[in-house]
Amino acid sequence: MRHNRIVLAMSGGSGAIYGIRLLERLLAAGIQIHLCMSGAAEQVLRDELDVALDEFDEHAFLNEVRDVLDGYGFRPQDALLRGRLVRHDIGDWSAGIASGSFPTDGMVVCPCSMNTVAAIAHGISTNLIQRAADVHLKERRPLVLVPRETPLSPIQLENLARCARAGAIVLPASPGWYHRPRTLADLVDFIVARILDHLSVPHTLSRRWGESTPGTSTDPGA
Ligand SMILES: Cc1cc2nc3c(=O)[nH]c(=O)nc-3n(C[C@H](O)[C@H](O)[C@H](O)COP(=O)(O)O)c2cc1C
Repeated sequence: MRHNRIVLAMSGGSGAIYGIRLLERLLAAGIQIHLCMSGAAEQVLRDELDVALDEFDEHAFLNEVRDVLDGYGFRPQDALLRGRLVRHDIGDWSAGIASGSFPTDGMVVCPCSMNTVAAIAHGISTNLIQRAADVHLKERRPLVLVPRETPLSPIQLENLARCARAGAIVLPASPGWYHRPRTLADLVDFIVARILDHLSVPHTLSRRWGESTPGTSTDPGA
């Protein structure tokens, strides 16, 4: 059953633009987004995209989102008005997403820091992102993690493997090049398209391998 409701968490990994483009595409799809950002994510948003969230105001935030996407060459987006944005404070344990009784179609952590990966891997729930991820795993709902780090230590690799074994989709922010990207927007959309696929949200963001190039013999996978 679809509830048209997805948890979008942003933690303090690099690549805030992936989360921002994803937010816009989810709103464009008419989804109700439950947004939660860690303190580190807010710092990364400031550092990478000049987005400040000191006093969260939905209208001002969506305007900033529009400007950021414009700057990257995306064409936004009255689509921002289609869905619904619900923001939760990182320490708000009374938020619905802290409980398995609150139905969602899934959760994505994008970007996902190694700190948040470690917490999820070990069932630690000291903030709302970690708790909501824990809930999605225990309820056997889709949980997509978009980690960004390189190189990876054995500890980080083991934590990612633990998450994958517990049912999470580990989808590193590592775009392919076989679709011949020309712009930053192409690279961002490669990842956002894969995330939407795993959340079962229809989109037309990227050409699918084999669909518009008939006769090709090898499929490199995602
Ligand atoms: C600009 C910036 C970029 C960062 N990039 C990464 C990154 O790519 N991967 C990562 O795991 N941590 C990165 N960090 C460090 C995390 O933000 C830090 O470990 C933090 O404790 C994560 O907390 P959180 O998981 O609650 O968001 C970055 C921090 C900043 C300020």
